[in-house]
Amino acid sequence: MSDFENILVSQEGRVKVVQLNRPKALNALNMPLMLEVLSVCQAADRDETVGCIVLKGSEKAFAAGADITEMADKDFEHMYGVNPFGEWDKIGQTRTPMVASVSGFALGGGCELAMMCDMIIASTTAKFGQPEITLGIIPGAGGTQRLTKAVGKAKAMDLCLTGRFMGAEEAERSGLVARVVEPDALEAEVMKAANTIAGQSKVATVAGKDAVNRAFETGLTEGIGAERRVFAGLFSTHDQKEGMAAFMEKRTPVWKRDR
Ligand code: CAA
Repeated sequence: MSDFENILVSQEGRVKVVQLNRPKALNALNMPLMLEVLSVCQAADRDETVGCIVLKGSEKAFAAGADITEMADKDFEHMYGVNPFGEWDKIGQTRTPMVASVSGFALGGGCELAMMCDMIIASTTAKFGQPEITLGIIPGAGGTQRLTKAVGKAKAMDLCLTGRFMGAEEAERSGLVARVVEPDALEAEVMKAANTIAGQSKVATVAGKDAVNRAFETGLTEGIGAERRVFAGLFSTHDQKEGMAAFMEKRTPVWKRDR
């Protein structure tokens, strides 16, 4: 366990597990909490023993949004000039693959934080939403962009303009969520996926994530060009030589970190 004040951090094998831990406020995301999450993500990127990060909340809430009490008296000069959510954006730049384990509410900044991860695995109890409109604002940590890329304009407009919550099954149908499982199967399903990712070559998972993310940021031709360059680059790595040799020799690969 950890010395952090707002999160609990542990490591299981090559998986770093980060649990948001402000239960009384349904894991509302204040700046100290987000800076703690960011520091774990950045440390994971430098740590060869970490192949995947799991981000989770409690049974009742992944996170019920940015901390409204922290934001209520802020003005334009602060939100635009200081740009506090610029720090949040850095979590989305983590190179290590990230899996969000969502149970209960993932609202506002909570939904945005889940979407900064590379895949979301949800319990049937999960409720996603961008209810900022009910506070007289709009999503401010990437929600209008990432949600629209994930679920398309029709549903993104529905969620952002009405503020309604979307259940797990609808979220899976819409492409926001990779897998939905019963609440008591969530932990095992998430750890199984995270361990599978963490068991691959790290340079290859980082490259795969990088290439898939290009699809969100570029046109098709440019995106395929970027994919081809990263793909070709992997042929200069030990892990590519080893992975293919192991396949042909019918044995388990020994990745660079294990040598
Ligand atoms: N910020 C601060 N505190 C919050 C919070 C938030 N986002 N969400 C919940 N809490 C607090 C509540 O104030 C309450 O505290 P007290 O016990 O001290 O009163 C505690 O958590 C429990 O919440 P509720 O009593 O409201 O629990 P509930 O089960 O009745 O309702 C809920 C749950 C529907 C999630 C409701 O709490 C809610 O609507 N929360 C706010 C959701 C929201 O608007 N999120 C967007 C925030 S803005 C944002 O995120 C901007 C951005 O883009 C980054």
